[in-house]
Amino acid sequence: MTISDEILHAQLAQTLDGTPWTALGGRALPRYDGKVRDCYIDRERGERVIVVTDRLSAFDAVVGTIPFKGQVLNQLATFWFDHTRHIAPNHMVRVPDPNVMIARECTPLPVELVMRAYLTGVTSTSIWKAYEQGARTFCGHSLPEGMRKNERLPMPILTPSTKAAKGDHDVSVSKDELLAMGRISPAHFETAATIAEALFAAGQAHAAKQGLILADTKYEMGVDPSGAIVVIDEIHTPDSSRYWYAEDYPQRLARGDEPRSLDKEFVRRWLAGEAKWSGDGPPPVMPDEIRVEAARRYIASFELVTGTAFQADTRPPVARIAAALGATC
Ligand SMILES: Nc1ncnc2c1ncn2[C@@H]1O[C@H](COP(=O)(O)OP(=O)(O)OP(=O)(O)O)[C@@H](O)[C@H]1O
Ligand SMILES: [Mg+2]
Repeated sequence: MTISDEILHAQLAQTLDGTPWTALGGRALPRYDGKVRDCYIDRERGERVIVVTDRLSAFDAVVGTIPFKGQVLNQLATFWFDHTRHIAPNHMVRVPDPNVMIARECTPLPVELVMRAYLTGVTSTSIWKAYEQGARTFCGHSLPEGMRKNERLPMPILTPSTKAAKGDHDVSVSKDELLAMGRISPAHFETAATIAEALFAAGQAHAAKQGLILADTKYEMGVDPSGAIVVIDEIHTPDSSRYWYAEDYPQRLARGDEPRSLDKEFVRRWLAGEAKWSGDGPPPVMPDEIRVEAARRYIASFELVTGTAFQADTRPPVARIAAALGATC
């Protein structure tokens, strides 16, 4: 790890928990705040200015901020968009600040493309919970008998999930169910599925070279003004993916221990375990040590995946980003 504990602790007091602007470059723009990203929609230019904040979401709620999380996520997405543009077009236009991506505005497909290579998960909707409760088909894929938690599936599977309205939980469905719902055309689905499978194979291969397992991931795609399907939002980040260390995975699987993970599973475990919270009622306040440990893991994921040192920008983020974007309140 290239970042000292001193810097991580100092950053606790100046994480980016949101942005206050109403105009960019002197033009008033409508905004949409997701759980993690503040988006400013520039219809005139056909662009979406995405500010990746340090907010962490778990169990479909925002639970607090993690030092440097926005920078890590945005720079990892930048890395992966650069390295996969030969496989599928994506929305990235430019990155004017470590926390900001300017993207082509697209019409999102109303479905998330989830690729899974392992029988795992902790939430009630995960493939592992379904299997544990006796299900031997998941989203239309049949699963072999006798599998153990965290074991590799015979082959990666696509398990689409319908995007719920804000505050609701997403639902996993089979291809047939999804098409029967009439939310997406068969042609769009086939293109999106082909892209998801190819990106996941490339992501797994790169992760393996870096000593990691990309266990599962989620893609969002949209239709751009020319009608093409492009990858939007984020890609292969620790928020949208499960990353495990490959080195001791076999031994841990054999012992029945959880894989060592680099994603936000660490925070989910603290929330569900020590804090006894899994989404109902107001979230607990994360202690500094949990926030710092989560930051270490996000930064480690960046460094392991990209093979480069993370360059933390420690300038106060709101003023810095405002200067980069010409943003005003
Ligand atoms: N290029 C794009 N064009 C249009 N929408 C996009 C694009 N890239 C990302 N988005 C949307 O911007 C938002 C990003 O915010 P964020 O990831 O914080 O949202 P979220 O909390 O995951 O989802 P929700 O939309 O349910 O709030 C998402 O709604 C995502 O679908
Ligand atoms: Mg999102």
